[in-house]
Amino acid sequence: MKLRPAPATEGSELSMVGDVSVNRRQFMRYGFNAASGVLAATLGALGFASILLPPSGGGGGDSAVLYWAKGREDEAWYGAKHLQPMMKSDFEAEAAASNVGMSGAQGVWNGLPVIVNYVPHSQNAATPVSDNSPRFQEMAGYDIGGNYVGHATEYLLGNPDVFDPNNNLVMSFARCTHLCCIPGWQLVSNSFTDDNWTPGGGDDGGSKMFCICHSSRFDPTAIEVNRNANRSTGASFEYLGIRRAGGPAPVGLPIIPIIMNGDTIEASTDYTGWLTYCD
Ligand code: FES
Repeated sequence: MKLRPAPATEGSELSMVGDVSVNRRQFMRYGFNAASGVLAATLGALGFASILLPPSGGGGGDSAVLYWAKGREDEAWYGAKHLQPMMKSDFEAEAAASNVGMSGAQGVWNGLPVIVNYVPHSQNAATPVSDNSPRFQEMAGYDIGGNYVGHATEYLLGNPDVFDPNNNLVMSFARCTHLCCIPGWQLVSNSFTDDNWTPGGGDDGGSKMFCICHSSRFDPTAIEVNRNANRSTGASFEYLGIRRAGGPAPVGLPIIPIIMNGDTIEASTDYTGWLTYCD
């Protein structure tokens, strides 16, 4: 599949002042209120055309994360589970059937597009990195100006509720930090989707999340502290996220903290300020 080139510098210059907070009403809009032309095209391409569903449209409460396979029912491994609650055991079974041991799925949570990835961290963390066995990497993060923002390990020492690598799951907000399209996970067939893993959070290796709009790549195994800003107000915020590996996106995607309810994947609304950049 041929990807569209990125526009020159649009969206790459964000002013960063102040802090940001949101109320629930604002939060519920973030899934579908950005630049309507870009978003409409993306929704059509990825099958999110019916994302304007009620928060609990598929059953479950506000904290439930549901599979989203609209238009990809025959293609995605979770196609038959559209709008069913995400279960960790589903991801484990799918990962066991893959060469690299990872799996990923698009979802919807509180009306927002999300992507959940399974990474066999607990099984592989003690093996040499040179084995190229996938695991989460806690890394230093830098803003769009190349300034150091923080290190994931230090952040997690103070905020362990945001992300637990030994749960083997990471959920990220699925609105690209470039122009707010909705990235997929291995949706596009090109050289970046090889079924492998390499360390460093760079642009080599497969198992990346792609934004189909202009081919930004994100590494769901590379966890970092980063900084982004609201496009309308310039209000800035720091967040724990997954690393931008390549393409025009300026920074990585924010993590949404997972809460396990038995085998069911749920999520916390404690960090919604991180999701405001497309507002
Ligand atoms: S919106 Fe341009 S790369 Fe994602």
